[in-house]
Amino acid sequence: MDRYITVALGKGRLAKQAMELFERSGIPCEEMKDKNTRKLIFTNEDKRIRFFLSKGPDVPTYVEYGAADIGIVGRDTILEENRNLYEVLDLGFGKCRMCVCGPESARSVLDGHSLIRVATKYPRIAKDYFYNKKHQTVEIIKLNGSIELAPIVGLSEVIVDIVETGSTLKENGLVVLEEVAPLSARVVVNQVSMRMEHERITAIIENLKQNMPAGD
Ligand code: PRP
Repeated sequence: MDRYITVALGKGRLAKQAMELFERSGIPCEEMKDKNTRKLIFTNEDKRIRFFLSKGPDVPTYVEYGAADIGIVGRDTILEENRNLYEVLDLGFGKCRMCVCGPESARSVLDGHSLIRVATKYPRIAKDYFYNKKHQTVEIIKLNGSIELAPIVGLSEVIVDIVETGSTLKENGLVVLEEVAPLSARVVVNQVSMRMEHERITAIIENLKQNMPAGD
């Protein structure tokens, strides 16, 4: 009997679209559709594949340590967590951008010289962008959500955050000042699993690729 291939999914929007994709790819998981279940792990016995949901930032951790063979997670999280794993496929959904945002008046302080404060949920990405790409020394302030508040209440001059539709920025009088990176959902694979279960894992990835949303 084959061992289970374990798939970690980041809770939330991406997980729902990922499960739809697995279903289209012939790997449904009925157990997971029960909204009232308190189960944490869901199994497709037929294919010997099991799924679990975790907090997005924990997905690369599970995959690096081999507790999950495969992970589905946003590129923002991959960049921020910086784990040892293979990124093998861009799934094309969950598209958005990591941007430097703030009031229009903050554009002048992104000059490479001003010592400004940058609020973000993504300190590694923000630091890499300002230090290594812009060569601007900044103070990074880590927040855990509602990042748009920071420049409004005077905690920071700018923020580094995800922009999807842009409506949160617009409703709060902020704009995109610079783009840091394009983002979308990615498939990541444990490095040892990729060798030991090469055939099964590449078959799953190929299957997902064939069934990805059209146009992506
Ligand atoms: C994300 C992000 C922005 C918003 C962008 O926040 O941090 O606030 O979505 O989306 P938009 O461009 O379509 O308005 P999320 O809703 O994940 O919550 P958070 O503020 O707690 O991080």
